[in-house]
Amino acid sequence: MNHTSITAAIAIGALLSFGAADAGTKSIQLPPDAVQLKTSSLPGFTTALRNCMACHSAEYMLYQPPTAARPYWDNMVKRMKTVFKAPIEDADIPPMVDYLVKTYGNEQPK
Ligand code: HEC
Repeated sequence: MNHTSITAAIAIGALLSFGAADAGTKSIQLPPDAVQLKTSSLPGFTTALRNCMACHSAEYMLYQPPTAARPYWDNMVKRMKTVFKAPIEDADIPPMVDYLVKTYGNEQPK
């Protein structure tokens, strides 16, 4: 992770904890070129903030099919690691997949 992305992650963290203090605020609207990961209390949310925002915005997550199941997201995270060399720890993969499938995939709350 380079300095720019660390700074960005800290800025995002500050924004989110501010948002969490306001019980009415569930998400933050930003312009499409800076789509952020959807806030969640799942542990994989902060893991994904650390691991998934270095190269592209969360806009890519929005364009995945909402019917996509857990193995799809598992493959996606592993593809980021093997194909694009994302520095992802193996231990971080299961919580991120859990967050992703429950936030963007077929385990979203109805
Ligand atoms: C090392 C840089 C890097 C990191 C870190 C990274 N990605 Fe990617 N991601 C890419 C590249 C490169 C593409 C392909 C862009 C393109 O095809 O235009 C991509 C594309 C995607 C896509 C679009 C679908 C596809 O198959 O192209 C999704 C969804 C995605 N990434 C999710 C994630 C998630 C979830 C994480 C965190 C686990 C993550 N990315 C972390 C580089 C990265």
